[in-house]
Parts: sequence; C-alpha cells; structure tokens
Amino acid sequence: MDITKEIVYAGVNDKDIDLFESQYVVKNGVSYNSYVILDEKITVMDTVDKRKSGEWLANLEKILGGEKPFYLVVSHLEPDHAGSILTFLEKYPDTVLLGNAKTFLFLDQFFAALPKDTKKQTVTEGECVSLGKHTLQFFFAPMVHWPEVMVTYEQTEKVLFSADGFGKFGTPDTKEEWADEARRYYINIVGKYGASVQALMKKAGGLEIHTIAPLHGPVLRENLGYYLEKYDIWSSYRPEESGVLIAYASIHGNTAEAAKKLEGMLRHKGVGKVKLTDLSRDDMAEAVADAFCYDKMVLACATYDGGLFPCMEDFLAHLKSKAYQKRTVALVENGTWAPLAGKCMKKLLEEMKEIKVLENMVTIKSAVNEHTLEQLENLADELSH
Ligand code: FEO
Repeated sequence: MDITKEIVYAGVNDKDIDLFESQYVVKNGVSYNSYVILDEKITVMDTVDKRKSGEWLANLEKILGGEKPFYLVVSHLEPDHAGSILTFLEKYPDTVLLGNAKTFLFLDQFFAALPKDTKKQTVTEGECVSLGKHTLQFFFAPMVHWPEVMVTYEQTEKVLFSADGFGKFGTPDTKEEWADEARRYYINIVGKYGASVQALMKKAGGLEIHTIAPLHGPVLRENLGYYLEKYDIWSSYRPEESGVLIAYASIHGNTAEAAKKLEGMLRHKGVGKVKLTDLSRDDMAEAVADAFCYDKMVLACATYDGGLFPCMEDFLAHLKSKAYQKRTVALVENGTWAPLAGKCMKKLLEEMKEIKVLENMVTIKSAVNEHTLEQLENLADELSH
C-alpha cells in the first residue's frame, strides 16, 4: 500500500481484536495506518495501537534500513494511533514530535512516563515544515474526531494524510465495497461532528489532492470525487438513498411479525430499498448507519415495564448521540394491557432535530390481527408516497 517510492506504508492489520473501541464488531478487522516519508528529514506519520507495537516497529526498521527518523507527526492522540509513542521513543529517542498545542497537552495526560527531554515542535494552522524534497502543511481538524486532530498535506506529491477522516473498518486487503464499512465507521465514530467535517472539507477544497491517506483502511487514489461526495452527504446529515429502515424491538416475536408484514407490504408497493433490523440481535452500529443512509425509518417496539424494550431505548440513544436528524419516522407499538411504546419513542424523537413523525401510528394489542394488518397497510401506503 505504498503511496509513492518515497512515501511508504508502515501500518499494521489487527484481525484478532474482539471489539474496536470496545464496542464495534469488525468482522474483517481494522488497520492502524502509519506512513514513512523518506527524505533528508525522515518522517513517520503516526504510530499504531499498542496491541501491534512490535509488528509496527519491525516494519519501520525494515523501511528505515538503519537510518533514524527525524520527525514523528502526531495527527491524533487517540490510543489506536498514539498508543506506541513511548515504545517508539525508547527506540528512537532523538525524534522530534510534531504536533499542536492540544496534542502536547493530551500527550502529557496519556503518558506520564514520557521522558522529560522529549523533543517537541509545535505547529500552527497552515504552517509548513520542509523535510527536504517534501513539504508538510498542517491543517487543524478539531473534532474530526477529537479536539487535537490535524491533517497533513504533503505538497510535492499532493497527499492528504487525513487522520480518522476517510477511514474504514476492515483491513485494506479486504475485498469489499468501500462505502458500507466506511459509512458504519463514519456515522458511529465521527457522525456527531458533521459541522467539523464540513469545515475541514472547506479547507481541503482549496488543495490539489492526488491521494488520501487515512489512519484506517485503504489508501484512496482514484475517483476521489466519489469519496468526497459521500463525506459531504454524511457530514451534512442528508439521506444517501430513498428507502425505509424497519428497526424492531420484539420480546416474543409478535412485534417482529408486524415488522416483517410491513416489510412485505412495502416491497409489494414497489418501495425499492427496504431493510429490516432486529435490534435485539443485529449489529447496533450497522442499524445506526442504515438509519442515516435512508430517508425514512419505521420503529416497531414492544412496551416493557411501562416504557420501551431496552434495545429500542439503546438504539434511540445512539441515534441522538450521533445527531440523527432530517428524516421521516413512523411508529409501531405493541402492548397487551397499556401500550406506551409509541408515546415513549415520540418523546425521544422530539429531542432530535427536524424529525417528521407520521401521525399514522400502528398499535398492536399483543399480536397481529386483521385490524393490525389494515393499519400496517395504511402505513405502507403513506410510506410509499
Ligand atoms: Fe482512529 Fe479517533 O481514532
């Protein structure tokens, strides 16, 4: 995955991690990307998660061929990228760390054992640092995904080192479409910070970029407009596709049955994209990403202890924290003696921006019957227009 002859990939794949960030299932692993710029002042772009320090240092040693790095650029202090800084400095103690004021504040917080004589060089917004043939220019990207994040533009070979931006779950050698796992990564990890991503895209808009080198997933070289457009859509909270996500929280299967009936009705009416997700069992992060992908969503939930079945409450909490907005939502509730799920879901949706809740709410009393089917048919009609 080398970028050019002089910008070499040094990252590692993590295929045995159980959960990324202790919450995300990564069926095809994840990569911690790192790059080396071979020049008069050899520069390493970021370290890796300490789970893979040894493998990464071995990669560096091979690339450096006995030379020593002059700079280590620290784009992001989150431990999946900065976790090997101490180990790196043990081996290469004379390296100058390049970061911004916040980088160094967080660095000291994370690493109390950082040697006192560690060399640090603080860069400012837009500042250029020459490595010889290559020149790095730094642009701050606060909250994409932490406050200290900065991206680096290499002017000679026109490479944007984009930190978490344009990252993706799945190691770079995984044969899969970029968008699904990039969306699941973006919405769940950076989704809350759409305005910050928009601000960064404005800054990057003035640069001639030939290659995007993120900290996770593949290096992007061709058809960059496609990736930039996806990021523009995601960060402005626009739906990506016209379609319906039906997310259900069912205790004994009756609410699930209603959700499946509705799915069939929508398909019958020619609604092209319909996706069903079982919030008790399916991947929560994928459900959240799908909610952002489509313009419409149906929430079907059993009443539980006078409120919502917990996986629905959890789903709505995730949506709120990722700033879910500008969508149409329909509600299906179930309850044997006092159905309250609809009211509870509505209340939580009111805390989100620009959510249109359809008035046509379906109430199931215990199990699907003819009356329920009629209500579902009416809802399917409304959703298909
Ligand atoms: Fe991949 Fe925000 O760290």
